[in-house]
Amino acid sequence: MFARVKPLGAILETAEKKSLHRTLGAFQLMLFGIGCVIGTGIFVLTAAGAQKAGPGLMLAFTIAGAICIVAALCYAEIAAMVPVAGSAYTYTYATMGEFLAWTVGWSLVLEYAVAASAVSVGWSGYFSGTILNEFLGIHLPPWLSAGPLALGGAPGGLINLPALVIALLVTWLLMIGTRESAWFNAVLVAIKVTALTAFIMLTLPETEASRFNPFLPAGVFGGFGTGIGAVGAAATMFFAYVGFDAVSTAAEETKDPQRNVPIGLVGSLLFCTVFYILVSAGAIGSIGGQPILGPNGIPFPAGSEELARQCAMPQYAQYLVCSDEALAHVLRVIGHGAIGNMLGIAAFVALPSVILILLFGQTRIFFVMARDGLLPEKLAAVHPKWKTPYVVTAITGAVVAVGAAFFPVGRLADISNAGTLYAFMMVAIAVMILRKRSPDFPRKFRTPALWFVGPATIVGCIFLFVNLPAAAMIVLPTWALVGFAIYFGYSRSRSHVGLGLVEIHEPEYADIEPDIPGIADRGRS
Ligand code: ALA
Repeated sequence: MFARVKPLGAILETAEKKSLHRTLGAFQLMLFGIGCVIGTGIFVLTAAGAQKAGPGLMLAFTIAGAICIVAALCYAEIAAMVPVAGSAYTYTYATMGEFLAWTVGWSLVLEYAVAASAVSVGWSGYFSGTILNEFLGIHLPPWLSAGPLALGGAPGGLINLPALVIALLVTWLLMIGTRESAWFNAVLVAIKVTALTAFIMLTLPETEASRFNPFLPAGVFGGFGTGIGAVGAAATMFFAYVGFDAVSTAAEETKDPQRNVPIGLVGSLLFCTVFYILVSAGAIGSIGGQPILGPNGIPFPAGSEELARQCAMPQYAQYLVCSDEALAHVLRVIGHGAIGNMLGIAAFVALPSVILILLFGQTRIFFVMARDGLLPEKLAAVHPKWKTPYVVTAITGAVVAVGAAFFPVGRLADISNAGTLYAFMMVAIAVMILRKRSPDFPRKFRTPALWFVGPATIVGCIFLFVNLPAAAMIVLPTWALVGFAIYFGYSRSRSHVGLGLVEIHEPEYADIEPDIPGIADRGRS
């Protein structure tokens, strides 16, 4: 089962067929990374993070950021070495064999597709709050603006229509071959960073030390399976950093990757970490971020029915932890309504691009798995005119839209994190295996201090995973069982590697594979 290893040579030869120009520098990589990373995590989940940790949210951002930085360093080595679509899935295929690769590809569905649902729900909060309410004076009825209470939505909620629509719209854009140019990505990054900078500058002067007290109302560890406390919040806020792995896939197109890839990855992550800590300090220092506690003095779980009921009461109307558009809400409460609305517009404009990147990543992973014979090949069908894998895009988009329509953002983010943490851990293991097994293989970038950074990544990922709420943790093994059934029932007997086919894919696929949104207008021969 573990012996079906995809030959590294074939993977590399496929990659070489792409013969891309090396055009990207460290700054462009950083811009690309920041474009993928800043999204619903900071703009929306800040509220859920405060409900879990109170002011300790700042500590949560620091912990999650540190774990992402070591994971990014591992990603960088293997991405520069095996620079093909499918990222963690492909790396695992080349090192640990088909079965574990399947589990990684399968868990990446949680990372990308569920994250795309989460960002769609986050976008919906700003669309309903800022665009509909503030500008158009339209109040969407609760049954159209949130998922049902039974799944953790708002009281009276039935379906989150805006989230459903944006997910379908982005799917359609991807199907017809829309790509973001580097220029467009840079504009969106500028908009997001300007909005967050304005937020920091307006909120920090309003900060009062008393609002940080108690700093850890739910403690550091809130208890196994509860998902609360500073580390519980870290496990959720990890979502705010997800997306940097997309940068690693651009290693092949980077000038001097040994220098520029780590600068791009670590630079964009450090940049976001500092911003996130300042934003959370401003939000909590200016309006307070204490959680709403249950009768036993423990915070109600974020995204729970109980919390949704509390938040519907007038006395909690101004609480950070109850807002669907956390950052705009803070600015409105401290009297900067107009700038709050502008920040709302920034989120409205910029979040769809994060959905696009995540959905894109998902469809390409399915595409590569189908091309390897592990999923029906019909899924990899390329549209004659649009030149996109339209079948898999349509199916994925429909599922993402359904997830967005019915589930609350915090739940989706936690589930996505569970899958991502598994994939990151496997990447760290793959890097270490490749170092031992193929020490002389040319590496364009070597992870510094790998024997510390690799284990630190593994421990960090396990640590965050066990601090997720039980409901999110349980999704990973359940999802894995479904995956096993498909693997043993369908994929195993059809696997191209299993059938002895070693394929080097022709450049016709180059049209599809390397088009990473955000850097699509880079040169290519
Ligand atoms: N990190 C991305 C976000 O927060 C997924 O939206």
